[in-house]
Amino acid sequence: MITREQLENYPLPTDEEINSALDTAAELVKKNTDEFFDCFPKANSENNFYGKSYNTDWTEGFWTGEVWLAYERCGDERLKEAALCQVESFLNRIEKHINVDHHDMGFLYTPSCVAAYMLTGSEKGKKAALMAADNLMMRFQEKGQFFQAWGAMDDRDNYRLIIDCLMNMPLLFWASEVTGDSRYSDKAKAHIKTAMDYVVREDNSTYHTYFFDPDTGASVRGVTNQGNRDGSAWARGQAWGIYGSALAYEKTGNEAYIDIFRRVTDYFIEHLPEDLVPYWDFDFDTGSSEPRDSSAGVIAVCGMLEMAKRLPENEARYYTAAAKRILKAVMDMCAVESAQQSNGLLLHGTYARKTPTNSCHNGGVDECNTWGDYFYMEALTRLTKNWELYW
Ligand code: GLY
Repeated sequence: MITREQLENYPLPTDEEINSALDTAAELVKKNTDEFFDCFPKANSENNFYGKSYNTDWTEGFWTGEVWLAYERCGDERLKEAALCQVESFLNRIEKHINVDHHDMGFLYTPSCVAAYMLTGSEKGKKAALMAADNLMMRFQEKGQFFQAWGAMDDRDNYRLIIDCLMNMPLLFWASEVTGDSRYSDKAKAHIKTAMDYVVREDNSTYHTYFFDPDTGASVRGVTNQGNRDGSAWARGQAWGIYGSALAYEKTGNEAYIDIFRRVTDYFIEHLPEDLVPYWDFDFDTGSSEPRDSSAGVIAVCGMLEMAKRLPENEARYYTAAAKRILKAVMDMCAVESAQQSNGLLLHGTYARKTPTNSCHNGGVDECNTWGDYFYMEALTRLTKNWELYW
């Protein structure tokens, strides 16, 4: 845990450091498109190098998002070609319904296809993203008012939402904007309300997942999948809560979400170790030999920078400075500096760490992961220009 004084003693990054880190990241992405032009890196690296994936996981949208961010940075036409080629793959995936029976349509289609539509007017990107939004709509459970994360819709053992899904909601707000049909945003608002009502605990930590009764929709219990234990705060889940509440406020204007943002963000900041790079779960603190999750750090940074746009000046200044300090810590400890070191951008992420008290499969521990790479670039981009968000 750190005090406010410890946080404020940590140095801020200079503009030069931020710009240089973003240039390095964009150059690495450019180089990595040689390997991943019409295919994608797997969700996480092995020994810091990603193998190839062919658009079947929940994570491929992050790579295309990185390519778009690199394109925004340096305007290289080959990056645009690569991203648009990947958009074809996303359209094919949703048209053929390949591994899309889950809720992660936003993670897949927002940084890839919504971004393509925003940046180039791509009609294929628009079509694919709208089909993905329609697909996500099929996962709304009326009893309980939430989007079911995983599994078949009639599977009683899967009757739950997960905190990560807050990041899938912007796709639905976008679909309403583009089509003029408010059914998408109505469902998104209902899901966000349910999630916020149940995942945030009294001490401002968060549950990863929350079960409901399939017969009545009544709340049942919070359970972890990727956190250390049911009652702990999984660092990335807490970070999804930070960015998710900032976006929830941006999309709905509901002021209750500002308060949720403050609660989950303050918990995150206070529970950071002294060097500001989060361990994968807040059960672990300064001096622990457990792995870090750099991706949780950069997701939280993006959420704080987003919310700072809508906070009173004092608070905006505080969260912006905290975000910059966390980003500097992550840059200094985790940024990839050369293609020899890794074909990712950010070291020391943790996808899923198996413990006796959680239910995930072990994988991607102390490795790069594509969402860590993507949100690292997004965080740097946010600090270099008035970035129009894809979410
Ligand atoms: N959304 C899954 C994860 O953060 O691992």
